[in-house]
Amino acid sequence: MSAEHQNPLAGSDSVVTVEKVTELKRSDLYDLCDAAEAAIIDGGGFGWVTPPDREVMERYWKGVMAVPERTLVVGRLDGVIAGSAQLVRPTRNNEAQAFACNLTTSFVAPWARGHGMARKLTQAIIDEATNLGFGILNLDVRETQRAAITLYDHMGFTRWGTHPHYARAKGRTIAGHFYYKVLERPEEETEPQA
Ligand SMILES: CC(C)(COP(=O)(O)OP(=O)(O)OC[C@H]1O[C@@H](n2cnc3c(N)ncnc32)[C@H](O)[C@@H]1OP(=O)(O)O)[C@@H](O)C(=O)NCCC(=O)NCCS
Repeated sequence: MSAEHQNPLAGSDSVVTVEKVTELKRSDLYDLCDAAEAAIIDGGGFGWVTPPDREVMERYWKGVMAVPERTLVVGRLDGVIAGSAQLVRPTRNNEAQAFACNLTTSFVAPWARGHGMARKLTQAIIDEATNLGFGILNLDVRETQRAAITLYDHMGFTRWGTHPHYARAKGRTIAGHFYYKVLERPEEETEPQA
């Protein structure tokens, strides 16, 4: 059993909630930065290999709120933000891929793992994408993120490929897996056209 499943709080009465956010209160912004920093230090899968300065991190989250193609979903453990995930919609000019969107930058702070937060965040993104009328949800993940890979395998995502030079961290090249999930009407909307 891995460290994430050894969380001493797992199985306690803690309450996990997820919500879509359209603006971040100052206290929530701080909590989100703290949670992201903890996940990055733990080995993240969040793009950053080492945590950026706090100012850069705050600017990043403010940028996420400002970009029209992005939807941020946050997870709270007993009211405190401890994780998040984003839905990224295609840009308007990308007509050929207008049916597909991406799940990115999903993480849960190490102290909040093992409570089902990632599953709820992922389901919230699936629901949002489905409600918006998308037919396909794509994501990619480093091959070293075993917990995430198990989660996506269990939630019906299909692995369609592996990129051998997907990421580089601490001088090491890491492979990455690419997944998709069919959200609706697969036979009508997702057959590739010649
Ligand atoms: C992956 C991650 C988001 C899981 O967060 P979490 O809130 O602890 O996950 P959950 O409690 O919702 O667990 C959901 C499922 O994930 C899988 N899972 C979670 N932790 C796991 C572990 N340590 N080992 C194997 N599978 C695990 C299980 O299938 C689990 O379902 P189960 O408890 O019914 O078996 C978290 O470990 C994380 O932030 N990791 C680093 C960042 C990352 O990998 N992000 C994904 C990049 S795309």
